[in-house]
Amino acid sequence: MKAVRIHAFGEPEVLTYEEAPTPKPGPGEVLLRVHGAGVNPVDWKTRKGAGVAGQLGALPAILGWELAGEVVAIGPGETAFVAGDRVYALSRFPAPAAAYAEFAVVPAAELARAPAAIDLVRAGAVPLAALTAWQALFEVAGLESGRTVLVHAAAGGVGHFAVQLAAWKGARVVATASAGNRAFVEALGADEVIDYGATPFETVARDVDVVIDAIGGEVRNRSWSTLRPGGLLVALNGALAADAVPAGRRGVRRLVQPNGPQLTTLASLIDQGHVRPVVEQVFPLTEAAAAHRLSEQGHVRGKIVLDAIGG
Ligand SMILES: NC(=O)c1ccc[n+]([C@@H]2O[C@H](COP(=O)([O-])OP(=O)(O)OC[C@H]3O[C@@H](n4cnc5c(N)ncnc54)[C@H](OP(=O)(O)O)[C@@H]3O)[C@@H](O)[C@H]2O)c1
Repeated sequence: MKAVRIHAFGEPEVLTYEEAPTPKPGPGEVLLRVHGAGVNPVDWKTRKGAGVAGQLGALPAILGWELAGEVVAIGPGETAFVAGDRVYALSRFPAPAAAYAEFAVVPAAELARAPAAIDLVRAGAVPLAALTAWQALFEVAGLESGRTVLVHAAAGGVGHFAVQLAAWKGARVVATASAGNRAFVEALGADEVIDYGATPFETVARDVDVVIDAIGGEVRNRSWSTLRPGGLLVALNGALAADAVPAGRRGVRRLVQPNGPQLTTLASLIDQGHVRPVVEQVFPLTEAAAAHRLSEQGHVRGKIVLDAIGG
């Protein structure tokens, strides 16, 4: 099969489109013909030797953790899926999943039927960011109707799902974005959008129950004062030292985990029109380097995806 592999860590040029062995499904696994493989910041961080590079083992390695495609073969003992099923997954994260390829093997427990309302290329851009938002909002923070959530980087991959999911839940959503993304984030369901280039968000956001922080650093430091006493910040980017959490506030670091049943719920929300995945650009699999360059600029609206079927 064709795949995008790295033989060394480095700049986008290390992404090499080449022949690689087609994987075979073992017990409890399924072989997919990949249609779409999403691109996320962890992909280029890992390509550079950071991110989850420590998990890759010996190079060469195929990057990519989220994907959608069609089931083409079933491993021994697996009965939940049959050839021809349209499925999507966040696979094995943070261990290697090898999604940037024409074929990939995925543990069946991590798979769900893909949303019917979107094509399988775009469905490949949903699992990692949508599961991150779901787990941060509902597993970690237990967000309920009537609460207030501050979503940073609301126009990005995680943020655009977090805004829509929090609004669907009935929460009041305050969001940060640049001026050019204000209308986009309002249309996702945010009640208030703060243009971070014009207004320090901590002068506007008050008595927040939950902060979803996919930025970290100085943005995280300034976020604590927006929380009500007892409020919770979910840290998605960077470690969170216990002594960095101010007295009377709570902070939890969360790494997304594969979860097939949660993807089934997300597919229903997409098919019912409650959640609309936004894909800024589709790149052919041959142009993974260009996709990484765009992601690295840090201003993607929604997601980027690699087309492994038509590209
Ligand atoms: N812990 C986990 O499991 C986990 C999972 C997924 C992602 N992450 C991490 O979370 C971060 C975000 O991921 P992502 O996929 O959402 O990234 P992304 O799609 O690349 O985020 C891009 C967005 O960030 C916004 N942005 C940039 N600077 C901002 C600022 N100062 N204030 C507000 N918005 C700003 C941009 O909006 P404008 O163009 O309007 O500036 C853009 O829409 C990454 O570091 C990623 O590695 C962690």
